[in-house]
Amino acid sequence: MARCFVTRRLPGAALDRLSAAHEVVVWPDRLPPSPAELRKRAREAEGLLTMLTDRIDGELMDACPRLRAIANYAVGVDNIDLEAAAARGIPVGNTPDVLTEATADLAFALILAAARRLPEAAGAVRSGEWVTWDPGWLLGHEVHGATLGIVGMGRVGKAVARRAGGFDMKVFHTGRGGDGVPLDELLERADIVSLHAPLTDATRGMIAAAALRRMKPTAILVNTARGGLVDQVALREALESGAIAAAALDVTDPEPLPPDAPLLQAPNLLILPHIGSATHTARERMADLAVDNLLAALDGRPMPYHASP
Ligand code: DGY
Repeated sequence: MARCFVTRRLPGAALDRLSAAHEVVVWPDRLPPSPAELRKRAREAEGLLTMLTDRIDGELMDACPRLRAIANYAVGVDNIDLEAAAARGIPVGNTPDVLTEATADLAFALILAAARRLPEAAGAVRSGEWVTWDPGWLLGHEVHGATLGIVGMGRVGKAVARRAGGFDMKVFHTGRGGDGVPLDELLERADIVSLHAPLTDATRGMIAAAALRRMKPTAILVNTARGGLVDQVALREALESGAIAAAALDVTDPEPLPPDAPLLQAPNLLILPHIGSATHTARERMADLAVDNLLAALDGRPMPYHASP
């Protein structure tokens, strides 16, 4: 029986399976443990089940001498130093596939909401600004038939592309595969740019001032991947100057944004609180995969969903 620390309560019954085999402590609060609290709770743990809000670096690993496995409750693993884990022989698991469709649904919801100005329109109904049907009021952009540029044609990127087929969109994407186009070309051609790349040293800040300048003034930027892909100062400037038409973000850097974050003042901007995978089904299946990963590694078997550096 190994000691496990789980950094948040999880939906579904997956943790019961972990508790049946191991001694499990679950962080009880809605807010994540502070770094100091995490270090304290993880100190004796052999298995950690972590969230994307937990920073797991080499220092933390060294503070946990018995640590044998880390299962991240996310497909993205940018919160974990994978190299440091590999150097210490600690396997890291993630939760791919099970959140693909939920995240792609949300990306499409953001595309539609930004193109058709849904937050503004809904706000007008509540505020009393809606006084009549007006031929020139709240005009947006057609999603049907628009050109969609997908940055990062992985699982979620492909799922968004499938949905775009139903809207007769022209879809193209970045990537080294034969049919990928360079990022600059994608930015220049797309009516809608949707980000689906992982956050790495190479992709951090990839959508900065120069990239935003390449986009059409009618273009919409959608990000359901990681906030760090976008330079938020440059995005605010692009929205304020009209260099792009709108942006819809499910992810920011940091999360949450402080209430006085300048980005929140930008026009034509919709921000959601990182809910891409927030369906009952996806979140329960993520818990299943994270527990499968931890059970396997603590049992000396390879993790079924192993994230390598
Ligand atoms: C992930 O799993 O990386 C997602 O961002 C969670 O929604």
